[in-house]
Amino acid sequence: MHSNASTDSLACVSAEMGGQALIKRFLSSRRASTDLLQGLSAEDCQSQSMDDASPTKWHLAHVTWFYEVMVLKPLEADFQFWCAPFAVLFNSYYNIVGDKHPRPKRGLLTRPTLQEVLAWRQNIDDRIVKLLEQSPSERLHWMVELGINHEEQHQELIQTDLQHLFFNNALYPACRNTTPDIAPSPPGVQWIAADAGIQAIGHPGPSFCFDNEGPVHNQLIQPCYLRNTLVTNAEWMAFVEDGAYQQSLWWLDEGWGWVQREKIQAPLYWLKTNAHTAFEQFSLHGLQPLNAHEAVRNISYFEAEAYARWASVHLPGHENARLPTEFEWESLARNKSALLHDLFGAVWQWTSSAYTAYPGYRPWSGLAGEYNGKFMVNQFVLRGSSAFTTHAHSRVSYRNFFPSHARWQLTGLRLAKDPS
Ligand SMILES: [Fe+2]
Repeated sequence: MHSNASTDSLACVSAEMGGQALIKRFLSSRRASTDLLQGLSAEDCQSQSMDDASPTKWHLAHVTWFYEVMVLKPLEADFQFWCAPFAVLFNSYYNIVGDKHPRPKRGLLTRPTLQEVLAWRQNIDDRIVKLLEQSPSERLHWMVELGINHEEQHQELIQTDLQHLFFNNALYPACRNTTPDIAPSPPGVQWIAADAGIQAIGHPGPSFCFDNEGPVHNQLIQPCYLRNTLVTNAEWMAFVEDGAYQQSLWWLDEGWGWVQREKIQAPLYWLKTNAHTAFEQFSLHGLQPLNAHEAVRNISYFEAEAYARWASVHLPGHENARLPTEFEWESLARNKSALLHDLFGAVWQWTSSAYTAYPGYRPWSGLAGEYNGKFMVNQFVLRGSSAFTTHAHSRVSYRNFFPSHARWQLTGLRLAKDPS
């Protein structure tokens, strides 16, 4: 039985959440996006640093487009577009909805202005609240719940995309206060044994989850261990200083090609301002000394995989180290969370699992059908959550996914190992 079908979520939303509570959550999630504008100029919100990243202004508009096209258009009685061409400009990837402005050219959209986008947001907010008050329905509640979760995902992207934008500026600007955004990992490595055998994987409901988190199904977990701590910057420094980025034996062939082609020598935001200084790390807090005890971040799948191979040879106690499968990660996180540090809120953790559908998976019906399913190719699953992730998304079944070379997200790793 497909536990994540929208009908299940519908029942949950209507049973657990009154309309007023949903309105409150809706408005709070909308405010959380505009709160991210603090410390930014209109110019900061306009620029696009690469094809994969989007301007802050585009994110703010796109999550609003989602409500206008996916929620108001089908459900509002006297629906009219605020500005009809926005339906094309701020469509991300929904072919069923129609044409899209090319992704690499989002930074060229100097119009509408940031102020116009904020005015549009206000209009859509008012109309969603009015609809929730005057015409509540299970379908409306579920679509707003999806809209909230969708906007929260974009709040994370706003921050990772800004970080990439500012890194491309030799001023290395800081737009946040100086509090470190990732707490140092506790010292002392321990290996936590998995409960080997058949384990249930996936979100059992009834609370909200994305379609790719289900259905619940069985996976065979082989005897293995998961490390209680994330790999730290200090540990990664040993990998760098050992010359691992210059040695092909640690790398998948495609990864080695990537390292050479892109001249990769360290995690994305590690920087030496001259050859004789120590590494610093760039973040939204600006350029700061590399904190040895923090979890390493902004590494690709290729780097995570190479590190596991290197660690299995070089680090005491790490014999047979490898990346965990997403099922091992979920099973251990579900059963032994008290023993595992930083499962959530520090860095996303690469797994060796290809991002693909669980047995029995069906995409959502209707307009949201393109949300996740069509991306199930050529990507790897990451588990946990990062310092940029909305706290409410911290759940053991959550599946993030990126291609093997991507590293502008807050991506790190937690090692597994086989019994010796
Ligand atoms: Fe989106």
